[in-house]
Amino acid sequence: MTDHLETKFIHSAGVDKKTGAVNVPIYLSSTFHQENFDKFGPFDYSRSGNPTRLALEETIAKLEGGTRGFAFASGMAAISSAFMLLSAGDHVLVSEDVYGGTYRFITEVLNKFGVEYTFVNMTDLGEMAEAIRPNTKVIYIETPSNPTMNITDIEIAAKLAKANDCLTFVDNTFMTPLYQNPLELGADIVLHSATKFLSGHSDIVAGLAVTKDEELGNRLAFIQNSFGAVLGAQDSYLLLQGIKTLGARLNQSSESAQAIANYLHNNPLVEEVYYPGFSFHPGHPIHVRQTKGFGAVLSFRLPSKEAAKIFKESLRIPVFAVSLGAVESILSYPATMSHAAMPKEEREKRGITDGLLRLSVGLEHMDDLLADIKQALHKVRQRTGEVNFIN
Ligand SMILES: Cc1ncc(COP(=O)(O)O)c(C=O)c1O
Repeated sequence: MTDHLETKFIHSAGVDKKTGAVNVPIYLSSTFHQENFDKFGPFDYSRSGNPTRLALEETIAKLEGGTRGFAFASGMAAISSAFMLLSAGDHVLVSEDVYGGTYRFITEVLNKFGVEYTFVNMTDLGEMAEAIRPNTKVIYIETPSNPTMNITDIEIAAKLAKANDCLTFVDNTFMTPLYQNPLELGADIVLHSATKFLSGHSDIVAGLAVTKDEELGNRLAFIQNSFGAVLGAQDSYLLLQGIKTLGARLNQSSESAQAIANYLHNNPLVEEVYYPGFSFHPGHPIHVRQTKGFGAVLSFRLPSKEAAKIFKESLRIPVFAVSLGAVESILSYPATMSHAAMPKEEREKRGITDGLLRLSVGLEHMDDLLADIKQALHKVRQRTGEVNFIN
């Protein structure tokens, strides 16, 4: 009998074998005494390994269906460390609407080490196939993408990668292992900004990576230890606690997100809503095939920057902040937040215009969120004089 993921989230880390404590102990120790002069124990120094971090790493490996998990100091540390598997002269193919920090790392850091890159529209497999070069070593996918929620077919992309001797990396931050398991679809490395849904309480910054292949796991372990951007024991503990409630949180938030997306779609003031839960979303069939849910993040376009500003100022419940995936709803303005690192021209090509807002739906009562959004849109209409407003 296989347990559901919601059950695994709670029990994967297990109880402490020595004491029976139901929570993993926090081992605040940078170093470990070695009884034996010649043969060291499993832990020697916390950059190389820490028992609390290991419990987290084993947990995420189990949840993603991998063999090795790695915990990093941030999502960007996990992503950058994975890219360090590359060498000068290699080339990477990247989702065109990737998270702004990943874009910045690839275009302003990785390029300094001689790694070439091409951004492609990964909803178009022909474009992706054409962009592969003899030196392409990684296909890097974010699906749904951030913030315009484009969907990439992971299985087909991974097949294309394998046929060309490349690795497939998937940023699974938006879906989490509850809804999407990229390793099962053929990906080689799954990456997370665990700052988001996995921890869920806006209290830590953390990153995770998972591999299935033993040799690849060993190579990433070597980089994790060499580069040293590891997650501390206290944050590892908090992340383990967050993971326990992921199922309840993400299922509820996703239900509310679908209701909010429907409401926004039917509101004439809203020019466009990006949410993979719409049956008419171009990526909907692929998303349904490769995931078990639509998630709690949606983006929508108001007519102007002024409208976006009034909307933000009129909202009562969501916080206006960078980040997503928390118990509190978070409204973001991608142009100056998640995608500030992207030049305006590049942003606009990707649909990240001045009227675009992103909403990460939290755990507040859905009716309260809907009422708040409704009144804020009403104020936008009153103050901008937009017509055709009937809701
Ligand atoms: C999809 C995605 N990937 C990666 C990151 C980077 O993670 P972190 O902020 O934990 O470094 C973020 C952060 O917003 C993100 O949204």
